[in-house]
Amino acid sequence: MRTPFIAGNWKMNMTHLEGIKFIQELGYEYKNKNNCEVCLCPPFIALRSVKNIIDTDHIDIKLGAQNMHFEENGAFTGEVSPLMLKALGVEYVIIGHSERREYFADTNETVNKKVISAFKHNLKPIMCIGESLKIRENGNAESFVLSQMVECLKEVDAKNIADLTVAYEPIWAIGTGKNATSKDANDMCRAIRIRLAELYSNSFAEQARIQYGGSVKPSNITELMSMSDIDGALVGGASIKLEDFIAIINY
Ligand code: PGA
Repeated sequence: MRTPFIAGNWKMNMTHLEGIKFIQELGYEYKNKNNCEVCLCPPFIALRSVKNIIDTDHIDIKLGAQNMHFEENGAFTGEVSPLMLKALGVEYVIIGHSERREYFADTNETVNKKVISAFKHNLKPIMCIGESLKIRENGNAESFVLSQMVECLKEVDAKNIADLTVAYEPIWAIGTGKNATSKDANDMCRAIRIRLAELYSNSFAEQARIQYGGSVKPSNITELMSMSDIDGALVGGASIKLEDFIAIINY
């Protein structure tokens, strides 16, 4: 049985002071009635402050980062390494989000290096893949997404797959208010799991978690979570609205 997994990606929102307020209020108000794993991914500058509140208030929420470099250290101005994240108590790291791919030159090749590096440092990657609207309209969404996944997982060891989260995020659904239908999202998540089974094994594929992301909100989470191959959600905009995020966790 896979534990449902809901992660909030704050993107470039919230100062560390706003982050502290949010996590305090969230810890106070939320009851995790589905026993799902919940993770918040604040900007780098807020990781430490948010983690302090999680620890002192004993809040059952994991900490994630939104990106990392694949090297441990060196002359990479402005970058953050896996060792730095580990030292802060980070457990998850989003890798290859479509905004990183579009604006910051992440490619399948760098995503692959980051995934390998994350596992090497005992960080659990939330690896993002997803097609553009043009690719979907041309009918090539599935082959595009699966080949993206294969490239991003090159030489990733089978023993790590149980700790892998794949976030299927159709680019046209991110921040647009247009979500994929739960059937389309589930079909893609199932295709992803089948390909994972081909690449590794059935039992590894059954352990990996697959999230849907793209305009997830209180009104669509319940249906998405009822689908056979959707194990959770990667939530952007709704994760910085306290009431919405609580409603999503308590789908
Ligand atoms: P959204 O973002 O929920 O605002 O569509 C999702 C994401 O980018 O992970």
